[in-house]
Amino acid sequence: MHPEGFLEVITGPMFAGKTTELIKRIERQIFAKRKAALFKPSIDNRYSESEVVAHNGLRYDAFVIPTDEEGVKTIEEITKRERFEVIGVDEVQFFPMSIVGMLDELADSGVYVIASGLNLDFKGDPFPVTRELLVRADNIVYLTAICTVCGAPATRTQRLINGKPAPRNSPVILVGGRESYEARCRRHHIIP
Ligand code: TMP
Ligand code: MG
Repeated sequence: MHPEGFLEVITGPMFAGKTTELIKRIERQIFAKRKAALFKPSIDNRYSESEVVAHNGLRYDAFVIPTDEEGVKTIEEITKRERFEVIGVDEVQFFPMSIVGMLDELADSGVYVIASGLNLDFKGDPFPVTRELLVRADNIVYLTAICTVCGAPATRTQRLINGKPAPRNSPVILVGGRESYEARCRRHHIIP
């Protein structure tokens, strides 16, 4: 489907269906008899240790990779050793910046790379890794969610701590799901 190599980025706020879209694309490639694999960071232990799981419960077997330089090398090694033609990386924003060049080179070498991740953190600031992948992408799949307050398209992620909007000095990384986050439109995205 992209035998010449391709870098595709799936992005948007939480609850937009990014992981579902990633799994769907990997499954289509497997139907097309391509050798495909999915990778996810070990930091994300929300629902499963060895599977990628979407908020809607859709799940798929994945290589679980630590979010350090070694982890980035491991993704490259597995892809080359197993001669994967298609790879997906979920939660790509959690990996170090070196993943950008590595994935870009894999695409140059003929691999169809699909990276899924948040474009913005809970403050509305870019995740640098996703930003750098977006500007290099051959295709961008931008998804929106639904604002939990008004039902408008949501492009932001609200972090809630004990039900209250998290302050700006809250740490950037906080793994969580519906107990800590809601999709919001610009108007209802609040940072005290
Ligand atoms: P999702 O994109 O599959 O919904 O998962 C996003 C993960 O990122 C989830 O574990 C929560 C985490 N997260 C942060 O660590 N910091 C943030 O600012 C946001 C918005 C999410
Ligand atoms: Mg997801």
